[in-house]
Amino acid sequence: MDTTVQALFPAHLAAIMDRTARALEATGFDGLVIASGEAPLQFADDQPYPFKSSPGYKLWVPEATPGCLLVFEPGCQPLLLFRQEVDYWHMPPREPDGAWTSGFDLRIARNAAEACDAVPRGRRWAFLGTPEPAWQGRAEPNPPDLVARLDYQRAAKTPYEVECLAKASELGAKAHRAAERAWRGGASEFDIHLEYCRAARAREQELPYNSIVACNDHGSVLHYQHLDPMPPAEHRSFLIDAGAPYAGYGSDITRSYAATTGRFADLVAGVDAAQLRLAAMVVPGRDYRDIHLEAHRLLAGVLADCGLIKGGVGDAVESGVTRVFFPHGIGHLLGLQVHDVGGLMGDASGTERSRPEGHPFLRLTRELGPGFVVTIEPGIYFIDLLLEEARADHRRSLIDWDCVDSLRGYGGVRIEDNVVAQSEGPRNLTREAFGRS
Ligand code: GLY
Ligand code: MN
Ligand code: MN
Repeated sequence: MDTTVQALFPAHLAAIMDRTARALEATGFDGLVIASGEAPLQFADDQPYPFKSSPGYKLWVPEATPGCLLVFEPGCQPLLLFRQEVDYWHMPPREPDGAWTSGFDLRIARNAAEACDAVPRGRRWAFLGTPEPAWQGRAEPNPPDLVARLDYQRAAKTPYEVECLAKASELGAKAHRAAERAWRGGASEFDIHLEYCRAARAREQELPYNSIVACNDHGSVLHYQHLDPMPPAEHRSFLIDAGAPYAGYGSDITRSYAATTGRFADLVAGVDAAQLRLAAMVVPGRDYRDIHLEAHRLLAGVLADCGLIKGGVGDAVESGVTRVFFPHGIGHLLGLQVHDVGGLMGDASGTERSRPEGHPFLRLTRELGPGFVVTIEPGIYFIDLLLEEARADHRRSLIDWDCVDSLRGYGGVRIEDNVVAQSEGPRNLTREAFGRS
């Protein structure tokens, strides 16, 4: 871990100890046990799925190791039971020795039973993680009241978390540059992906989510999941949505490129300009739903400028035409998970804060507070399924179908940045990182 990030860890640990203590007190628990998780075996096989630490554990411990327990009782130093099994088939995990460990009482456990036995008895424990038989009668698994409070608190990041996300954007921007170079050089989606991983210094399973590496019309599939091993016959456009990891946090970045100047390049420029205006709205006190609704208005303007729609901007939004081209939410909370928890919570007890009517895919409806980190990701896509629906209803006359047909082969555009809400103005971690890369 970088020394500047490292220096922020003690205050982060103190902050999460304090807020966890308050959540435990409010819900009547003496303490909390958080499992890092295990790597489960695939069905009828002896091969494990890739291991991912549980998000609750990553909040406290920046290194991913299976089988560990974080044990916290208010007023005591947190106990890290670090699982270090010894066998000759695997390399045992290295005992952590980073500066962050000084905040913990670190003990080694050789197996699951040893870790479980090291947790004191006679307390009312809450347990976060996949319920294990060993904990039956000893801890209450995932109590909803407590989980809601902890999830709600995770939206506002500590300065340490913001720096982790800044580092994740830095690494992501570097890898995006490598991917763009590979695409401009004529590489296939598969080879672009390899270049991305090489530049991010990460195995595929270490990335915060499955990268979307989409040439031409593949960009119209919102979560396109394949990697074509063959380069496309013609290089028209490229959309890449890919993040990078840092100490358990991850960036979530999308860039779109046109191979030549022309209508599609104009569309990319229009979405980019709209994205910057929306990112400027990320300030404490802002209702995130308003950013989403403003995105529809701005994107209607882009659609009109590119000749894709007829009639006014207001008509396009009212009639639902913008939802044909922009059918997802403007973004979400970002942090330990790419779609971080608590986006729809109206308060710490978990009351849902509703989405605007007709916008079922928006993942964040909260009022932004200082330290919230969100994505801003407007897009315009040519999705056959949605276009055919619109052609069959009242929206038919509001769309210029010749213009649509001229752009279908380009797939779509999305521009996605990671932005921190702060009282002195938004901090765009992603633009900052591209500016340096
Ligand atoms: N990469 C998934 C998303 O942008 O939400
Ligand atoms: Mn996203
Ligand atoms: Mn994304």
